[in-house]
Amino acid sequence: MNDPKAFVQEAVDRLRHDVPGRTIVAASGGIDSTAAAVLAERALGDRARAVFVDTGLLRAGEVERVEGLFRASGLAFRRVDAVDRFLGTLRGVRDPERKRKRIGAEFVRLFDEEAREFGTDRLVQGTIAPDWIESGGALRDTIKTHHNVGGIPKSSRLVLVEPLRDLYKDEVRAVARELGIPEADRQPFPGPGLAVRVHGPVDRDRVRRARVANAVVEEEVDRAVAAGSMKRPWQYFAVLLDARTVGVTGDNRVHGEAVSVRIVDSVDAMTATAATVPPAVLGTIARRITRELPGEVVRVLYDVTDKPPATIEWE
Ligand code: XMP
Repeated sequence: MNDPKAFVQEAVDRLRHDVPGRTIVAASGGIDSTAAAVLAERALGDRARAVFVDTGLLRAGEVERVEGLFRASGLAFRRVDAVDRFLGTLRGVRDPERKRKRIGAEFVRLFDEEAREFGTDRLVQGTIAPDWIESGGALRDTIKTHHNVGGIPKSSRLVLVEPLRDLYKDEVRAVARELGIPEADRQPFPGPGLAVRVHGPVDRDRVRRARVANAVVEEEVDRAVAAGSMKRPWQYFAVLLDARTVGVTGDNRVHGEAVSVRIVDSVDAMTATAATVPPAVLGTIARRITRELPGEVVRVLYDVTDKPPATIEWE
């Protein structure tokens, strides 16, 4: 893609062709699906309905942020509260691929219901090139199963429409700017959300800890960037590890959990390098996480591994 304006016009024409009646749009608030939703609305007006699912696996303040973003982008949307459904389907699941499959299946069930209710079988999604390439396109090994390209099972009547499927992330950002979507430079956040940042079993408490730790990393890195002490990394987040470890609170030894801080620089997420972060920033992150989750998280690690050999996410 060379020209975002021309791309938008072509995508609008193609959407009008691919969606004869109505469609729902899977809108997570990420840059990809927001761009897809705005394109669908431009092409189809109120024949497109953006559906935003609160999975309970979102970051702190995310629901409010996403609603604000949609309003600022002029997007009409419907919010579905599905927290109990998603935590229920993840109960007892530790394996990352199973988590993604369960989440994918729950999304399909939910969008099936939403589509039926809106009188359509079309689902617009913000799939981009690395999603299907890394998810096992024709010639690639399956590296991971993204929820958004995990595939629509035969039992579902949904027909996928993917207006961004040939674009890379930097191209989507250019399209988003062209569409007037604010915050086009926000860091990527995985579709399965905090489920893949809670290493091991997922429950309400462990999601809460991951959410608190993640908010600390985001706030402290944003603060350091604003102060000019580091450049904005590609992604920066916390992962709650599946490990019990010993800490001290006052005179007592306690068993708690550990958090790994991941801060990487990248251009397209296909490769990445562990960022060089001022030690004072890491120190503040560790103190705040252990103070805000007293006795629950007692150790904070910094992940110094590049991709490859490690992936960006832990799971
Ligand atoms: P990895 O961990 O494979 O991540 O190096 C590459 C990029 O993809 C994001 N990611 C995901 N995005 N669903 C998504 O929508 C997923 O299951 C998923 N797993 C990883 C990751 O945050 C990084 O930007």
